[in-house]
Amino acid sequence: MTVSTAIRWEQDDTGVVTLVLDDPDQSANTMNEAFRASLATVADRLEAERDTIRGVIVTSAKKTFFAGGDLRDLIRVTPETAQELFDGGMALKGALRRIETLGKPVVAALNGAALGGGYEIALACHHRVALDAPGSRIGLPEVTLGLLPGGGGVVRSVRLLGIADALLKVLLQGTRYSPRRALDNGLVDEVADSPEDMLARARAFIDAHPESAQPWDRPGHRIPGGTPAHPKFAANLPAFPATLRKQTNGAPYPAPRRILAAAVEGAQVDFATAQEIEARYFVELAAGQTAKNMIQAFFFDLQAVNSGASRPQGVEPRQVRRAAVLGAGMMGAGIAYACARAGIDVVLKDVTEEAATRGKGYSRALCDKAVAKGRTSREEADALLARITPTAEVSDLAGCDAVIEAVFEDTALKHKVFQEIEDVVAPDALLCSNTSTLPITALAEGVGRQGDFIGLHFFSPVDKMPLVEIIKGERTGDEALARAFDLVRQIRKTPIVVNDSRGFFTSRVIGHFLNEGVAMVGEGVEPASVEQAAAQAGYPAKVLSLMDELTLTLPRKIRAETRRAVEESGGTWTPHPADAVVDRMVDEFGRPGRSGGAGFYEYGEDGRRTRLWPGLREHFTRPGHEIPFRDLQERMLFAEALDTVRLLEEGVLTSVADANIGSLLGIGFPGWTGGVLQYVNGYEGGLPGFVARARELAERYGERFTPPALLVEKAEKGETFTDGR
Ligand code: NAI
Repeated sequence: MTVSTAIRWEQDDTGVVTLVLDDPDQSANTMNEAFRASLATVADRLEAERDTIRGVIVTSAKKTFFAGGDLRDLIRVTPETAQELFDGGMALKGALRRIETLGKPVVAALNGAALGGGYEIALACHHRVALDAPGSRIGLPEVTLGLLPGGGGVVRSVRLLGIADALLKVLLQGTRYSPRRALDNGLVDEVADSPEDMLARARAFIDAHPESAQPWDRPGHRIPGGTPAHPKFAANLPAFPATLRKQTNGAPYPAPRRILAAAVEGAQVDFATAQEIEARYFVELAAGQTAKNMIQAFFFDLQAVNSGASRPQGVEPRQVRRAAVLGAGMMGAGIAYACARAGIDVVLKDVTEEAATRGKGYSRALCDKAVAKGRTSREEADALLARITPTAEVSDLAGCDAVIEAVFEDTALKHKVFQEIEDVVAPDALLCSNTSTLPITALAEGVGRQGDFIGLHFFSPVDKMPLVEIIKGERTGDEALARAFDLVRQIRKTPIVVNDSRGFFTSRVIGHFLNEGVAMVGEGVEPASVEQAAAQAGYPAKVLSLMDELTLTLPRKIRAETRRAVEESGGTWTPHPADAVVDRMVDEFGRPGRSGGAGFYEYGEDGRRTRLWPGLREHFTRPGHEIPFRDLQERMLFAEALDTVRLLEEGVLTSVADANIGSLLGIGFPGWTGGVLQYVNGYEGGLPGFVARARELAERYGERFTPPALLVEKAEKGETFTDGR
């Protein structure tokens, strides 16, 4: 019999009630209005029929146990509707609390992923059995969306695990655990091998605990590890602000601080008050801009990008079976590993077999590490390695249905290697180049089948970086674009699609970030302040240290090429104030960056960065030359955002979601912004506020901050950057 829409009530003749979460209107269960109403009805009935009930199992009929809060609702919360969210949250907590205190054993049978709201439901149960389903994940990842768990997750995880473990293992990082790792870390009590085993274990718990209750509802319960008043906890407390600082780098991420506050304050009061404290912090975060930015990016935009919004429609999906990777250097070796990990056979070609074998060695090292860490089995690792064939022979590439070229960055060489292999690989093989700077259309000219030729720009290190930038040349066909998209998804990476242009999207935009930081040094700003400004803006790498990593000679080379191209096409070349600094660093001081042993930083014998080069202060810094710290931060953010708008104007970028996700996953644009265009949308005062501020920066620091026409026009019309989906 069904008592409500989102939860099915099934009762057997031994008095065990199974609550099956199964929202008929959605493919996954979420914490929406229907669910809240259903839960309240279920709680009423459990209380009314308490005497006939022996125990309760909570499970789900969907693939995932429960998907969590409904983000479509959450992203719309404003300070005006915050009270409604608070009331809804408290009602949900009330219903969970009534089930938890029924006096009967309640077991969560987690048949699939239980993240966020799903794990909060599990926490309200007395016992948690998780099915060891592949890909299933358990945890409270709210912090990664700028939120905190608002369904009792903070209150209960603290009472279950202790403040320190709850914060460090569950709440502050938002780790998504596999069922086995969830067991090791105390998030669940048992792991089952099959659905039958899971339900049998749930029943066994009910049989053995007829009068179950939560530990925190038993007399004399103490929070494990102590509360802030307890000396043992007090000894640990000083570590938390440091952990927070490390996590946020001083950047505007409000969630970790609120989580810390909710955990510490909630641990010192009774359960009901703790629930209210948690709800207040939750609502404050949900109504704020950062959560909106992060939900937009990491949920909606990422989903749009991965599901193929930028993939041409009507092209049959195709899987690559055998890929040729040309060049077994740093990038080729990483690409070979990524392909082999996804089950693709890889022929890894370099000029000598030794070089190719060395490239395969990279995969071997990654596999050994994964085995040592228990992330994969020896058999799986060996199977992965067996899929990579190192070679120096072109004939070994026969039958390959995709080619990814990663030889030196040299047009003539790239043309040569494509000519060598074109007639050997499958006649309709997809032809990709991993060039990081060479325009794809020009590169295609040296390739026979230009329609099948496309840019596939990976990021280093390939095994860790989730993004691939697909670059469509003027003659690239839709079929090739769709197949490149499918290949990127096949190797489980996130593809963004851009039209051809020098530097594409990512390299061009990150160049503006680097130039801005270097220009500040040239203006006389303390180099340490420049680095600090980047960190506090939320960039994962400080600007001068990143410049050193990439080397100062690379931007010079790119600058010279770009200048030549601009002048050849009749345009006027405008130098950037950073250019003079880079030139002096290289020519006058002989400091070309980390690989040359000296750059903006000094490096020890072992190549490790030791300190900022004191010569910077001597040659560039003007003591007393002060620029407001906010200007330092915003100059970097604005430089990237303004150029992104120009790329939209130029038609290089055609999707807002691609821009946001590309900036976050590819070039380290700060996560709290929700991506480079969402930063503009969410800026104080919206687009008009952004335009006004850009004009101010243009007046103070140069024309490059002048807002592009598209931005001004959108601001005047009251629009924002969206794909209109
Ligand atoms: P690398 O210098 O580490 O490797 C290049 C490899 O190509 C060497 O092993 C070399 O022996 C091999 N090679 C040269 N001629 C060959 C031929 N005729 N046939 C087969 N192999 C040949 O260079 P890296 O860093 O791996 O870069 C490769 C490409 O990827 C370049 O186009 C680069 O611009 C691009 N790229 C590099 C990124 C980076 O972070 N290093 C990021 C994205 C793209």
